[in-house]
Amino acid sequence: MKRTVLFLVLMSVLGITQALTDNRYHLGFNDEEKVEFLSEMRQMLSSIQQITLGIGTGNKAMIIKAARYSGNRMARATSQSIKDKTPISFEKIGGPTHMMFETLAINAAEVDADDADDMKDLAELTGKLMRHCLACHEAFTVN
Ligand code: HEC
Repeated sequence: MKRTVLFLVLMSVLGITQALTDNRYHLGFNDEEKVEFLSEMRQMLSSIQQITLGIGTGNKAMIIKAARYSGNRMARATSQSIKDKTPISFEKIGGPTHMMFETLAINAAEVDADDADDMKDLAELTGKLMRHCLACHEAFTVN
């Protein structure tokens, strides 16, 4: 007993207990929902990769295609059972994320690929969009 207490005190002094506590909201997805949802997530990462590469190489078509992939189309494709499990606070981050991908596609179509400032604006928008990735990952887990 004394040893357990000593152990716990040591752990908290070392800040280890904090690392072991997951304070995120548990969405409680079943296996099927996890497969579908996480695959969408990997698509979003892939979009970000293509968008970044497109900005760096001045390839507008690449940016537009990648951004559209994770835009409204993906939002619409999400299954009802997943939508039923996600709280408003989740949708408040997720909805605008898809919208920003659409905005990115529209803006990319209008920019001059040879104009460094134009491409800088796209990079900035991508960075701002990714704040949503961080915010949601900070707050939710599929488990
Ligand atoms: C509205 C919420 C939300 C947004 C926005 C969001 N994610 Fe996620 N993402 C999650 C959750 C929840 C998980 C699962 C995390 C867990 O359970 O530990 C996840 C997991 C992932 C994974 C891991 C996939 C796997 O196979 O395990 C990747 C990659 C990912 N997200 C990329 C992104 C990128 C890139 C963005 C932004 C463009 C993004 N996500 C935006 C909620 C979100």
